[in-house]
Amino acid sequence: MAVSGILMVLFLIAHMAGNLHIFEGRESMNDYAEGLRTFGEPLLPRESLLWVLRIGLIAAIGVHIASSIALTHRALHARPVRYVSRKPAKGESPHAAATMRWGAAVIVLFVIWHLLDLTFRTVNPVKEAPDAYGAVVATFAPERWPVTVFYLLALAALGFHLRHGIWSAVQTIAGPGLAWRRRWQAVALAVAVIIVAGFAIVPLAVSFGLVS
Ligand code: HEM
Repeated sequence: MAVSGILMVLFLIAHMAGNLHIFEGRESMNDYAEGLRTFGEPLLPRESLLWVLRIGLIAAIGVHIASSIALTHRALHARPVRYVSRKPAKGESPHAAATMRWGAAVIVLFVIWHLLDLTFRTVNPVKEAPDAYGAVVATFAPERWPVTVFYLLALAALGFHLRHGIWSAVQTIAGPGLAWRRRWQAVALAVAVIIVAGFAIVPLAVSFGLVS
């Protein structure tokens, strides 16, 4: 769970950083998107790098979901009799596990919409959206503010999921004797905030007409 989660966090950081090319203009963003496709040419076929990343990402998602099912199963069998009182450990949220499941469902639905919107561009308002820049500007156009709100809500769910997920991964890797608990919790929060803010700034900038 921790390893697949970390791989996805790395993907998110790279994706978020790549998106920020939009502030350098159409050419820079499209060069970056095209660069991902032509990397290694002519030695390697077009989109080689992209397919390596895609297969890695799909595998990470599969492992992550399978691990979550296995862990839930294990937790249920470890304690078939319900606790009378379920006070969370100090600093932990009482609803963390349920929040993670709901958050995961929202993120999956968001990613399906997002792929239809910006990768396949079937639900993008510009049916023949010619480039990544054009597709992003079209989808977050000011009059389509509900789409921006939807993205922001999904990003909020992603943020909660990341915060708890990163903190859980640190505990898994460090084991029970983890020192600096509070500092690691702050690191998890900071990483989640940076990723969410880095993503959110794009739809917000387009929606408010700063990028067009
Ligand atoms: C709100 C901020 C976001 C923007 C503006 C954005 C933008 C884009 C764009 C333009 C593409 C298509 C790139 C291309 O075809 O050249 C894309 C693809 C993708 N995005 Fe996002 N994205 C955002 C957030 C996210 C989030 C939060 C996730 C994951 C939870 C995500 C996951 C993906 C995936 C999996 C792809 C497909 C990559 C591929 O196989 O080509 N994106 N995104």
